[in-house]
Amino acid sequence: MTDRQKVLNVGIDLGTSRSAISASNGQRHVVESYVGWPVDMVARKVLKRSVLIGSDAVENRTMLDLHRPLERGLVKEGSKKDLDAVRQLLNHLLELAGIDLEAKKRPSVRAVVGVPAEAMRVNKQQLRSTLEGAVDSLMIVSEPFAVAYGLDALLHSLIVDIGAGTSDFCIMRGHFPTEEDQRTLVAAGDSIDENLLKLVQEHHPEAQVSVYMVREWKEKHGFVGKPQGRVKVTVPVKGTPTEIDITDDLRSACESIVEPLVETMLDLLPRVDPEFQAKVRNNVILSGGCSLLSGLRPALQDGLDPIGGGNIQSVKDAVFAGAEGCLAIALDAEDEDWDRLVS
Ligand SMILES: Nc1ncnc2c1ncn2[C@@H]1O[C@H](COP(=O)(O)OP(=O)(O)OP(=O)(O)O)[C@@H](O)[C@H]1O
Ligand SMILES: [Mg+2]
Repeated sequence: MTDRQKVLNVGIDLGTSRSAISASNGQRHVVESYVGWPVDMVARKVLKRSVLIGSDAVENRTMLDLHRPLERGLVKEGSKKDLDAVRQLLNHLLELAGIDLEAKKRPSVRAVVGVPAEAMRVNKQQLRSTLEGAVDSLMIVSEPFAVAYGLDALLHSLIVDIGAGTSDFCIMRGHFPTEEDQRTLVAAGDSIDENLLKLVQEHHPEAQVSVYMVREWKEKHGFVGKPQGRVKVTVPVKGTPTEIDITDDLRSACESIVEPLVETMLDLLPRVDPEFQAKVRNNVILSGGCSLLSGLRPALQDGLDPIGGGNIQSVKDAVFAGAEGCLAIALDAEDEDWDRLVS
């Protein structure tokens, strides 16, 4: 084996709700960003595992001390458990990609990790120490930048990554984005879920609903604009499965993110050099799970009318766009780039 073959490059998208890995060995995996530890010896006996990750953790949550370590774009403050959860999550992704972390002889792993733009600013050191030992070379980049890199949209573009904890905006000018080029809003998937839960509880006080249920409804039926039909779901009312109509609540909750997203684009775009503004307006790229909301892309595009209109496209693969972008960065980086980028 040559030295070159012994290097494994990986791109990791560490997200609030989902984390994904794309590796140079062709492995691609996504897990829900949940980590849970059995609450007591009974739970440990039932589960027969010391830690559960992803959907496995969500499904068994009644028996777990469950952590979703990122919130509103940041690693939760002050909790050792949450940092531990990040470590478990990242190690799990590396193992899914075929990296045996226990093995004495393993390829040298070079990882580019894309995180919400705020975490990149605030939690970079923490994240770096979390990954020490698991990977050999590391770069931490902001998620929208990773998406831009993967799509080769590095010049005159605006990336809008609408995730769970945050919506991240990034204007690309052909170099590493600066803070001025980026914006972060908490209007995103989680805020829709919170709104929807509140509205459904208000309008159907008898219904027993949880945030997990409303999130599933949003992912399945969520929309912006005119409804295509009525959205009806079945929920327990005093234990009896009962159908309720959530069309109007779902629409209001999903539409709650439109205005803040449009406002932020209208604030960012006029800051671009005047001769390039039209180019950027016509090269807006939506990524992130919430970009899949039916009707959202055209609603945002209409929002650009006051500044002369524009063109918004959605990425083809909202789940892996970030991880693939990170992998592309890892593959392109020269040895000396790692230091410069990591610092
Ligand atoms: N088909 C879908 N329609 C609407 N929303 C969806 C769909 N699939 C996923 N989502 C929502 O997208 C969000 C997750 O998106 P994504 O995986 O990009 O976020 P993340 O990277 O985990 O979060 P962040 O970038 O904020 O850290 C969640 O709120 C999820 O409910
Ligand atoms: Mg994300």
